[in-house]
Formats: sequence, C-alpha cells, structure tokens
Amino acid sequence: MLATQQPVLRRFWYPVMPLEQLDDGPKPFRLMNEELVLWLDSEGKPHAAEDRCAHRTARLSLGWVEGDNIVCPYHGWTYDGGGGCVRIPQTPDRPAGRAKVRAFNAEARYGYVWVCLGDPLTDIPHMPEADEPGYRVIHQFYEVWRTAGLRLMENSFDNAHFSFVHRESFGQFDKPIPAKLNIVEEDFGFRFETVAPVNNPPLQKKLLKMDSDTTERHMTSNWFMPFGRKLNIRYPNGLVHAIITYATPIDDEHSMICQWAYRSDSEEDAPAEQIIAFDRQVTEEDKRVLESTDYDAPLDTASGEERHMPSDQPGMVMRKMLLALLARFGEEEARVSGARIPMKEKAS
Ligand code: FES
Ligand code: CO
Repeated sequence: MLATQQPVLRRFWYPVMPLEQLDDGPKPFRLMNEELVLWLDSEGKPHAAEDRCAHRTARLSLGWVEGDNIVCPYHGWTYDGGGGCVRIPQTPDRPAGRAKVRAFNAEARYGYVWVCLGDPLTDIPHMPEADEPGYRVIHQFYEVWRTAGLRLMENSFDNAHFSFVHRESFGQFDKPIPAKLNIVEEDFGFRFETVAPVNNPPLQKKLLKMDSDTTERHMTSNWFMPFGRKLNIRYPNGLVHAIITYATPIDDEHSMICQWAYRSDSEEDAPAEQIIAFDRQVTEEDKRVLESTDYDAPLDTASGEERHMPSDQPGMVMRKMLLALLARFGEEEARVSGARIPMKEKAS
C-alpha cells in the first residue's frame, strides 16, 4: 500500500512535530507528500497550511509569525490560520481576500502538533496516563526512518521477532516459539493482549528494580489505525512502561517516528536518560531490519507475494482492516506497479 495515494488516510490525525520546535517561528513538515508550514498563534495554538505562497510560490515556512498570522518572506503577503490572505502590504487600500492557501486541521496534544489533512474520521486517541496522577511522560524519539508505517505497526505487535531482532537486548534467542496473543478489533484499530517472556539485561534490571535474569511483559496494547500504537507493558512488580509510537507518513518510503513513554515510577527510581538509552537500543534493532524491508507492504495477504505464519496475525488483521477501510471509501490499494523494489534503491 502506498499511504500517500490512499485519500482516506488523509482523514486521520498524525503527530507531526514537538510543539516546542515552533517556539522560535514557523517550520516546514512534509505529511503524505503535502508540504506544510506549521506555526503557533499568539495563544500557542498550532496552525497548518500549504507551504507555498499564493503570490509567487515562496515557502511560507521561511517567513515569520505576526500576531496569529504567517507572513511570506518574499513580499510580505500575510495569511491567517484559515489560509486566507489578510494583508498585501503593497496594496493596503485593496481587499486581500481573494488570495488563499489551503489550510488543514491542527491541534496540540501530548506535546505534539497533530495534523489531519482531511475531514477527521476519528479523534486523536485518548491516552489516560497523560492525565492520571502517578505517571510521568518521557519524550523519546523524533526522527526519520526509511520505512512505511504499516511495516512498523506490524512489527510492534509481532511476538516472533523478539528472539531474533532483539536477541542482544531483551529477546530470548533460545526460545523462538512466540507467546500467544489475543486481538479484539475496534472501529479504528484493535486491542492486543499477550504475556511475553523476556530477558532482563543489566540496565533493565536496574531500571525495573528486579534482580532476575528473565521476566514477563504483560502487554495490553492498542493499534490506532493507520500508523499509531500504544504498547502498555506491565512488569510483574507492577511497574508500567507505556510507549506510544507513531509512524507519521512523510511520503511512501519515509516515516517520522514520534515516540514518547509514560512511566509509573519516578525519575529517582529510573532516570529518563537511562530509560531512553535502553529504548534506543531496542528501536535501533528494529530500525535496522525495518529499513531493509520493501516499503510497499501488500494488503492482499492471499496474493502469495509474502508468506505468512500464525504469529503474523496482528499484521494480517491490520491488512484486512485497512483493505476494508479502503473498500468502504471506494478506494483500491495503490501499489508500486506490483514489482519488488530493487535493493539498490533501498540503499540510503
Ligand atoms: Fe509570497 Fe510574493 S511570494 S508574497
Ligand atoms: Co521490535
């Protein structure tokens, strides 16, 4: 599936940038191949519009914010949050109103700017830990990976890769038979439950305050269609480590990885820096393998293009639900002409 060519995927919310990155002025972001300019108005509310001035196409993201509006760096045409031109400095006596740039839905949530390019089908997922006392938030990663959202999503719920991809962090290489899992489908995603045995390397022992060499991860997690997930990991000592990861589609090959975590322990128990260091090792292990896969993952699981095994069920359900979503909106799955993407194109 080529995410940028499925119009219905424009109707979901994606986190696109940590809010604080807009503190010193407007910034560009490419979302599903749309070049956007993001800025904060005088009340700190984010706005998103086409990053292309209606006058001579200059990038508005090179401009600046004046009050609630964005000013083009070329001749100063000024646009409001709805994309309407409110000022043409060269002709102050004439109405500016006819010039426009396209504007998009933008919201601030969980420390990020979220954008929906179309008419939203669902809300930004609710994260109860964000308001519950007893949790702290740790912002972890904001970086580009050369992989498609679907690849990262199915990897997130794949109990069979731990023993191999994560054999140097928490995977049990000598126990390759994956833990059983349970999936409950929801309107725009699913809930997932599993209990996965894992290794407890030295840094984890310290962070989890657990002495044993192995432990169990009780995971009650969510897939948020199309490219969001929450892994809610509870360890036997009651500690909760909930990781939210979005693979925001930049284009068909690249995703902006936005990852933050909620922890039920304190900074004194486990310094954020060390938690990030452990999760960094784990995500690097995933990244290396995911960037080697074809970005155009097929939704049609019966095509024979990829082979499957029973533990692939979460990814199979994702594909089935995405196909149903496309069908519901009269879309066909867009592919790279059905061909394998040559390896040399993958080399970065
Ligand atoms: Fe933006 Fe001229 S190009 S004002
Ligand atoms: Co992994």
